[in-house]
Amino acid sequence: MAAKIISGRDVAKEIRAELKEKVAELKKKDIVPGLGVVLVGEDPASISYVTSKAKGCQEIGMYEETIRLPADAPEEEVLKIIDGMNNDPKFSGILVQLPLPDHISVDKIIGYISPEKDVDGFHPVNVGKLLRGEPCPLPCTPHGVQQLLSRSGNDPSGKHVVVCGRSNIVGKPLAAILMQKKEGANAVVTVVHTGAKDISYFTKQADILIAAMGRPQAITADMVKEGTVVIDVGVNRIPDESKKSGFRLAGDVDFEPVAEKASFITPVPGGVGPMTVTMLLYNTVEAAITLNQ
Ligand SMILES: NC(=O)c1ccc[n+]([C@@H]2O[C@H](COP(=O)([O-])OP(=O)(O)OC[C@H]3O[C@@H](n4cnc5c(N)ncnc54)[C@H](OP(=O)(O)O)[C@@H]3O)[C@@H](O)[C@H]2O)c1
Repeated sequence: MAAKIISGRDVAKEIRAELKEKVAELKKKDIVPGLGVVLVGEDPASISYVTSKAKGCQEIGMYEETIRLPADAPEEEVLKIIDGMNNDPKFSGILVQLPLPDHISVDKIIGYISPEKDVDGFHPVNVGKLLRGEPCPLPCTPHGVQQLLSRSGNDPSGKHVVVCGRSNIVGKPLAAILMQKKEGANAVVTVVHTGAKDISYFTKQADILIAAMGRPQAITADMVKEGTVVIDVGVNRIPDESKKSGFRLAGDVDFEPVAEKASFITPVPGGVGPMTVTMLLYNTVEAAITLNQ
């Protein structure tokens, strides 16, 4: 079987077009969704992420403001900025770009953001709500995975989903989203990690296999059953002298051979990647609606 490609670029474009319309409607009611971003330091990857988030906001007509601080900015200063954004109606969403320098406590920063404006969905209150099945902003990458499944006609309901990886930003929230008794979810979820003696015992049983391990090409063809839907969250840099940058990007899935067996598969790049910023925009628009109710 040659798998159909699920294009994250296409799905992201579709969702952004919907969001642009929603923002235009909100503006008629004098509601302008706004994202406040805090960037500490000069990490090139973080700068690139923040730039694409700002661009995304502008494209759909949202307000956006990025505050840039030097790498040695004290924790107190970051907290003060968050405090200001928490109390400023211009911002419906607040995001502090991670990772942060070592002298700043990530947990303290995340916990300081108002849960209603926590568009990353990392605040402990929102993590608890997610697990309980209560309305809350869903973490962006897992939410993007759910959208890729639903919008490609792969409703997870009743399916056995195997998630490889249990991080707080991908694996755990993804399992929590897909196990809910809700539309676009209702799956039987298995989570595997380095504690598993043989992950292929589990991956071979998956109707939907989601790789989020950060291990290049770790999922090989012998680990998947015929007809599985494969979502590759992994983004890994592989040294490649033929590239100007000196590296190429690879997912956690050995793409070509696995695509021969799978029914659907996401590429890297162009799969889950474009969905993450898109779902951040989605959360910011939704937060603006909730805050103005
Ligand atoms: N496209 C996007 O927008 C996006 C967003 C976020 C992350 N990512 C990518 O997704 C990948 C995962 O990110 P993350 O932040 O979740 O990574 P992480 O925090 O490093 O977590 C990796 C998880 O995978 C598990 N794992 C690692 N090797 C394994 C193996 N051989 N067998 C079974 N489980 C294994 C680890 O298990 P233990 O818990 O036992 O250590 C851990 O739970 C990375 O490549 C990252 O770059 C992409």
